[in-house]
Amino acid sequence: MHERKNPAPTETPIHEILTHRWSPRAFDARPVEREKLRALFEAARWSASSYNAQPWYFIVATRDEATDFKKVLECFVEFNQGWAKSAPVVAISVAGMTFQHNGQPNRHSFHDVGQAAATMALQATALGLQVHQMAGILPDKAREVFHIPEGYEAVAGIALGYPGDPASLPDQLRERELAARQRKPASSFVFGSEWGKPSPIVAK
Ligand SMILES: Cc1cc2nc3c(=O)[nH]c(=O)nc-3n(C[C@H](O)[C@H](O)[C@H](O)COP(=O)(O)O)c2cc1C
Repeated sequence: MHERKNPAPTETPIHEILTHRWSPRAFDARPVEREKLRALFEAARWSASSYNAQPWYFIVATRDEATDFKKVLECFVEFNQGWAKSAPVVAISVAGMTFQHNGQPNRHSFHDVGQAAATMALQATALGLQVHQMAGILPDKAREVFHIPEGYEAVAGIALGYPGDPASLPDQLRERELAARQRKPASSFVFGSEWGKPSPIVAK
């Protein structure tokens, strides 16, 4: 198994499950155990959500489900298909856009689908797996191919599995896979008295 050597270089110490989560493009061919896959969706299931509406849905296929795997892959943009086709599991997250209890629009459905995906990604890291989410999907194609009903929107693509050897990637992607990890400083997005003014919690 290929462990990434450069965990997130944080400004402040955080849990290692967070520093070790990352989004690989090279995946090992090894299939993901069914029990572990179930654990990923169980983790998603226990995410927080507005009104506990749980507006997340996932269309998922493993490599051995060849027809469905191909169908999911077809809903990714070409660039993402290029690397995601090597993952042992691919998925599409879908959001329910209205509350079932009152039929009103759920302004936080994408937010909550993102939370479920993040929770799943951390559970994956805990199990030695990694999740790579993708904005680059074809939502209309996903609606057509999987008969996603009105009131539901495809949100993101997901490729997951055990991380693989970066040497398996074309040059440009390999460089990105091995590049130093970067983030904006916390002081650029955590504000206090006024928009744009760093909170004393994170001010340097
Ligand atoms: C909602 C979302 C959409 C993303 N879309 C893509 C994508 O279409 N293609 C891709 O290769 N990576 C995509 N990524 C991965 C990001 O580029 C990656 O998370 C970011 O560079 C930070 O790297 P890290 O996850 O390894 O920390 C996406 C990530 C998220 C959360």
